[in-house]
Amino acid sequence: MRERGLMIDLRSDGVTRPTPGMRRAIAAAEVGEDQFGEDPSVNHLQDVTKDLLSKEAALWVPTGTMAYQMAIRLMTRPGDDVIVAREAHVAWHEAGGSSANSGVQFTEIGQDGVFTARALMSSVKPQGHLVYPPTTLVIVENTHNRAGGTVFPQDEVSRICSAAKERRVATFLSGARLWHAAVASGLSVRDLAAPFELVSVSLSKGLGAPGGAMLAGTARLIARAVRVRRMFGGAMRQVGFFAAAGLYAIEHHVDRLVEDHANARLIAERLAQSPRIRIDVATVQTNIIRFALTDEAPDASAVVERAAEGGVLFFGFDKDTMRIVTHLDVDAGQCARAAEVIVGAIES
Ligand SMILES: Cc1ncc(COP(=O)(O)O)c(C=O)c1O
Repeated sequence: MRERGLMIDLRSDGVTRPTPGMRRAIAAAEVGEDQFGEDPSVNHLQDVTKDLLSKEAALWVPTGTMAYQMAIRLMTRPGDDVIVAREAHVAWHEAGGSSANSGVQFTEIGQDGVFTARALMSSVKPQGHLVYPPTTLVIVENTHNRAGGTVFPQDEVSRICSAAKERRVATFLSGARLWHAAVASGLSVRDLAAPFELVSVSLSKGLGAPGGAMLAGTARLIARAVRVRRMFGGAMRQVGFFAAAGLYAIEHHVDRLVEDHANARLIAERLAQSPRIRIDVATVQTNIIRFALTDEAPDASAVVERAAEGGVLFFGFDKDTMRIVTHLDVDAGQCARAAEVIVGAIES
């Protein structure tokens, strides 16, 4: 296998590294003790984010996972039921954190990362009933990771949030890739966030920043979030170095996400030509490609191994479902080459 630095790495958009401009911004960042509220860079990022998302307040947190876990702690009580789209990150990729940290259970609904207000209403369990675990929170993940970067239709989002409000169910927008949803839909992150009480966005998913996510919502919720962040071990000190990277990412690396989306389509169109691959190119809306192997193909672990020998890294979700992610650190030429290697690995 080649050296890691020479590989085309399509495992995740979390692999992006700070660009030279971002590194300069990090080095020049003004910093202070964030737990005393004295880090000017993080304070500025929090102001920028609250304005971008049109919420009363915003808070920096170390990871997207912590933002998700904090949202659940803030909006539920132990024993509650939380409704999410099938295969939501919080239910599949957070090591069981929600049951350990907040004692909730999940009901997964819908298909392909989305669900309707009607499906929500038939799944909501009543509050104050002797038997049912009360549904107190609904989460929309936009875009949806495991479904393949699906953008949630905003009309349905509005109906979901209105229905939730009627039933006194809180609403959280899990927007690790909300930037991608905005670029793909032509709507602003503010419009996408508007119907929700609490919103998260990530700064490290395909944007080059080395870490960091933001929670934004009412001043009351964010004031409580400061304590929960400390409780979860996420209160840090000179956070300005991360904040400077985040600010740089928002300014320089969001608009270019169209390139990542075009590169994902380019790969998907090549994969669609193989009789051993099942993929609906129309579902490739952003930077994630999810596809299935037919019975004639080798299984996913063999494909991963062969592709790595050809210089391309990516993952299988299971024996016959695979995921590819495009990002800042791979260009169109590398994506075209990767598609050939992947098809070769599946057809050989
Ligand atoms: C939808 C979604 N939410 C949250 C996360 C977690 O983010 P982090 O890796 O920063 O913890 C991810 C990571 O891929 C994700 O895809």
